[in-house]
Amino acid sequence: MNREYNAKISGIGSCVPDHIITNHDLEQLVDTNDEWIQSRTGIRERRKADSTQATSDLATEAAKIALRSAGISPEDLDAIVVATTTPDMAFPSTACIVQKNIGAHHAFAYDVSAACAGFLFALSNATQHIQSGMCRHVLLIGADKMSHITDFQDRNTCVLFGDGAGAIVLSNSDDGEGVIQTELGSDGRHGDILSVPAGGTRQPLTAETLPLRKHYIDMNGSEVFKMAVRAMENSARLLLEKTGYHIDQIDWLVPHQANKRIIDTLGKKMGLPNERVFINLQHYGNMSAASIPVALDEAYRSHLLKPDQLILMVAFGGGLTWGSSLLRWTMKSQNNE
Ligand code: ACO
Repeated sequence: MNREYNAKISGIGSCVPDHIITNHDLEQLVDTNDEWIQSRTGIRERRKADSTQATSDLATEAAKIALRSAGISPEDLDAIVVATTTPDMAFPSTACIVQKNIGAHHAFAYDVSAACAGFLFALSNATQHIQSGMCRHVLLIGADKMSHITDFQDRNTCVLFGDGAGAIVLSNSDDGEGVIQTELGSDGRHGDILSVPAGGTRQPLTAETLPLRKHYIDMNGSEVFKMAVRAMENSARLLLEKTGYHIDQIDWLVPHQANKRIIDTLGKKMGLPNERVFINLQHYGNMSAASIPVALDEAYRSHLLKPDQLILMVAFGGGLTWGSSLLRWTMKSQNNE
């Protein structure tokens, strides 16, 4: 592809809260059991932020690690993009709060809202900031405190989600491909199968509406399952077709970590062997926008990602939103990080 600059990952980091909620812990809250949760989702445990930790706190820690790994200072950043559906507040944006926390005084900062696909939507923006020549270094964070919008009285949803943040630094480069292309899609007609109906301007949160529990995630699980598989497969196939790559050339599929059965079905439909699919949802559940960058960070720190490998990322979320992105990994493993 003809472009002035390439955008490549030069730093990466993640942060999850210390507090672990196991499936057995959830058995104390709702009528569920470890066997059901593991067999239907693959999840064993998830992390939960405490009441003093907001989304920006997790995002800030992940950002500091990513900046250290990139070897640049906050002052070097030209932009900060945070993908989140659980911002600290309506405004300032979580990105502006992170900017203040890390002292990135030269950066412009804004949030992107595309639910579980948010990281790939934000990656598309950040890549274009670099490829256009507008920015040299962009800090890109996926961060969500899903426990804030999770109803711990609803067994259909409370077993699925967790809190966390993952960050990358995207930098311009004239060597190495970096991000090759990103493909995005949305379909607002089916927004009601996965939503948080109340708490916004349509159904404000009041003393009367609070007991209805509509300010928590509402989900039609089986519909989400079917649409997620279909949309992610179509998006990934379209991306491969447009970029001229074949599935056999993909070294790692790093998918949104929602449900092991969704990922297994997708891998099988795409013809990818399990050994080339990275899964860490057993430890974290679905961390929404944080799930792909945390998975990338873990795969990198486990020395699984090697320079020149082709990485395919795919995601699906509320909206509905979905996307896929193909990148050439460029960071060398560092034992001392
Ligand atoms: N423990 C025990 N039983 C449960 C639980 C639970 N935690 N949750 C639901 N059930 C019950 C239901 O009440 C229902 O009971 P009923 O038949 O008596 O009414 C039954 O289990 C449903 O069972 P299944 O049909 O076998 O459930 P399914 O295989 O569809 O699995 C699940 C449900 C896990 C929610 C699945 O549909 C799913 O993963 N969907 C995708 C959801 C998702 O990933 N959402 C995240 C956001 S979008 C994204 O990130 C991709």
